[in-house]
Amino acid sequence: MDLEAYCAWLSDAGLDAPWSRSGPLIQSKASRVQPFLWRWAEIEPRLRCSPQFVVPGRGAERRILRLANPGVPERTSAHTLSGAIQYLLPGETAPAHRHTPNALRFMLKGEGAYTIVEGDKCVMAPGDLVLTPSMMWHEHGNEGSEPVMWLDGLDSPVVRYLEILKMEPREEPREAVGSGAITPRTIHYKWDDAYRRLLQQAESSASPYDDVIVEYRDPLTGASVLPTIGCYLQMIRPGVETRAHRQTSSAVYQVVQGSGSTTIADERYDWDAGDFFVVPPNAPHNHRHRGTEPAILFSMQDIPLLHALGLYYESS
Ligand SMILES: [Fe+2]
Ligand SMILES: [Fe+2]
Repeated sequence: MDLEAYCAWLSDAGLDAPWSRSGPLIQSKASRVQPFLWRWAEIEPRLRCSPQFVVPGRGAERRILRLANPGVPERTSAHTLSGAIQYLLPGETAPAHRHTPNALRFMLKGEGAYTIVEGDKCVMAPGDLVLTPSMMWHEHGNEGSEPVMWLDGLDSPVVRYLEILKMEPREEPREAVGSGAITPRTIHYKWDDAYRRLLQQAESSASPYDDVIVEYRDPLTGASVLPTIGCYLQMIRPGVETRAHRQTSSAVYQVVQGSGSTTIADERYDWDAGDFFVVPPNAPHNHRHRGTEPAILFSMQDIPLLHALGLYYESS
């Protein structure tokens, strides 16, 4: 019997001899996530047109435009993170549903938006962060007089990879507001508190790689906001250029205020307020301030997931 016949004989029994092919037994895989910058000036007019084509609750559960990474076949923002902008007109609602992916909302623009999470109504002011952890019922609405928009962040690519993605619409309406339900964890982080905390941090210490940075954490346990995703608020102060580093994690950033540049794997991305950008895993990156006012960045990063796997590393 020659090797070819032997391999065919193995295959008949559902066996494989990886050593029969060239290369290492465990094949490496380069990241398909590409550095990318999404400009608010390009997003916003497209978002404002979207109600002509989709109405939440009629055919589509949510009116979103996803930040699609050109390198990721599933059209998510990174291989582990899905970022999308959700848009609701005055008086509109997005129906209740729940799903296995963990989600977060970072409020961008407009007054009067709310999310109801397991009966708790969270009115979302710009800069607020609201969590909808795995399998918690949630719905949205706009009680204001202007359109509202926010960033939706999900770990859905991870959950899909694990083949446990499940989503359920709520079939029967139920009393959602004032149910008195006690939510077992903090789900609403207000902008004023986070920003105050960031300013306090600026008084004490800064990171050579991120300048002034704070992480949103569960106030009771100190844990990251979601098991898979950590959220951060950071300030790049006038005149600052951070040192470059690499992390095994990925990050999706939103520019809350100000201007700056992030160099990712030797390519410079100039960002302004409202823009989004993604840093792929292991890509060297540093941030540089531009303009006069401090730049404020919100980010979601898959650091907790990598920590859980013992695979979070940083190097400069
Ligand atoms: Fe959802
Ligand atoms: Fe970094």
